[in-house]
Amino acid sequence: MMKYRILVTGGAGFIGAHLCERLLQEGHDVLSVDNYYTGSKNNIRELLANPMFEAMRHDITFPLYVEVDRIFNLACPASPIHYQRDPVQTTKTSVHGAINMLGLAKRVKARILQASTSEVYGDPEVHPQPESYLGRVNPIGIRSCYDEGKRCAETLFYDYHRQHQLEIKVVRIFNTYGPKMALNDGRVVSNFILQALRGDDITIHGDGSQTRSFCHVDDMVEGLIRMMDSPSHFTGPVNIGNPTECSIGELSELILRLCNSRSRLIFKPLPQDDPRQRQPDIRLAQSQLGWEPKVTLEEGLTDTIRYFESALMS
Ligand SMILES: NC(=O)c1ccc[n+]([C@@H]2O[C@H](COP(=O)([O-])OP(=O)(O)OC[C@H]3O[C@@H](n4cnc5c(N)ncnc54)[C@H](O)[C@@H]3O)[C@@H](O)[C@H]2O)c1
Repeated sequence: MMKYRILVTGGAGFIGAHLCERLLQEGHDVLSVDNYYTGSKNNIRELLANPMFEAMRHDITFPLYVEVDRIFNLACPASPIHYQRDPVQTTKTSVHGAINMLGLAKRVKARILQASTSEVYGDPEVHPQPESYLGRVNPIGIRSCYDEGKRCAETLFYDYHRQHQLEIKVVRIFNTYGPKMALNDGRVVSNFILQALRGDDITIHGDGSQTRSFCHVDDMVEGLIRMMDSPSHFTGPVNIGNPTECSIGELSELILRLCNSRSRLIFKPLPQDDPRQRQPDIRLAQSQLGWEPKVTLEEGLTDTIRYFESALMS
């Protein structure tokens, strides 16, 4: 197997830290670049002992000069409370960050993968969403800094590909969960687990009938690596996510059971622009990458709950 010098932007984040670990296991030389906006040094602490791993503090909205063969561009806050805290910086990270990383890839002739998102589909009228669906995104709402930033980043990737023949890969990531998620990210899985473990009320926004699909981080990392390793003519965009749909109500019941918790369910209004349904069509990933998720929701939540329990104790 070829060994590469690989740059992971957002390498100290939730998905990035798992990706760095897996790339090191495969024998690659890995550089994590992160400004620790939402990520944490704790996520990569154990990797620092490996001489093939290096961590650099850097904000990708500024140019970066390093010699690498491959780039996974994951840097960007992913949860609404984090990306809405400084929406201008969120757009800058997606857009200026993409320009800087694409410029770097062009200079050093590296293959580059963009961590895009299911949010490019907005509040979809098509269900499940295939990659050909163009999306229904509000350009001026409170989620737009993220959704439109990621859409613009995709545009830049395809323009660099067409204009400069860059080897690009675009992955549209759907809801991902697992150990190393930020406890305070305000997303449904972490909220419910924290509330259940603390015996607090479980807050359901809306009536709980809205659905989501949840992909375990091990499956996600496998999908990202397969996409990076795929033949150069396959640029994507490709959906990577778990198509098993689960209502928010069902998720809360499952977490209550796995945490052995007696928390009560309470209902609050839906936030602005919250999509009713989100489910990936993964036929392209299945046919082009031979990828599909393996971890069941119950297995994945058990693993995540164990992580939350130990994080709460430390
Ligand atoms: N987790 C999900 O469910 C999900 C869903 C769709 C897309 N994604 C995408 O996957 C990627 C990783 O998401 P995650 O869940 O690991 O989020 P995360 O917030 O845990 O990780 C993002 C990392 O990027 C870093 N970062 C942010 N801005 C930066 C900047 N300007 N320069 C350098 N580093 C910066 C953060 O400090 C953090 O370590 C993101 O691009 C996100 O948009 C994630």
